[in-house]
Amino acid sequence: MYGNIVILSGAGISAESGIPTFRDCNGLWNNHKVEDVATIQAYYQNPKVIHNFYNQLRKDIEDKKPNPAHFAITRLQHEYKNGTVSVITQNVDLLHEKAGNVNVVHIHGQIDQSVCMNCGKIITSLEDTSVETVCPFCHIQGKMKPNIVFFGENLLSLNQVQKLLSECRLFIAIGTSGAVYPANTFASNAKYYGADTIEFNLHETINHYDFDNHIVGPAGQMFPPYVEKILKQI
Ligand code: APR
Repeated sequence: MYGNIVILSGAGISAESGIPTFRDCNGLWNNHKVEDVATIQAYYQNPKVIHNFYNQLRKDIEDKKPNPAHFAITRLQHEYKNGTVSVITQNVDLLHEKAGNVNVVHIHGQIDQSVCMNCGKIITSLEDTSVETVCPFCHIQGKMKPNIVFFGENLLSLNQVQKLLSECRLFIAIGTSGAVYPANTFASNAKYYGADTIEFNLHETINHYDFDNHIVGPAGQMFPPYVEKILKQI
């Protein structure tokens, strides 16, 4: 029987909610070069492009709803009594929260937050940002940045992630390609500490060798029955 459970989610868990992934065809990056909208250099060179991209992404995902995979996590968090169930997400959407998930760690930031590059304060708002936006804390204009971790920036909450990985006995990856460091090392970290590892994806991923088991198919269909199975084992 497992103790603590850690779930790592990627864009694939939100795909059935209508939010395009990054690297599948018609993915988020297909219409944009990553270096134009997801690097810290792009932010400094052309902040207007960055603000416009994330203002549009915020609008595009605002009305999206969680799917059965998100709700299955909520059920697991409510009914599993053998330890904690934590979510480490690479996603900047808020579908985990909308589904009632708790203990959610956004390592790549959140679409409803901006950070002031002058004073470091984080502002939660779904309003558009621009180079004219004034920080409500230090009142400096033009230093607001979407609180999204760009390539070239450090991840958020890595110490908390390491603690979760070292204490979990079941590591579940859902809908992530394993393309991005360091999230693509979390499974092997958890395994090092003695966790069983399982991957939910439409196909085996590039780091499939880190996983003891693979469940292939859409997360919204495959993950709820798996939660049922775990809860039956209690
Ligand atoms: N069910 C399960 N998996 C799915 C589904 C689905 N319905 N649809 C797609 N997938 C899988 C794809 O097979 C793919 O492996 O989800 C994965 C999505 O991979 P990416 O688009 O690379 O997204 P992700 O792994 O989250 O990317 C990690 O890269 O670009 C950065 O910051 C960005 O957080 C992102 C990070």
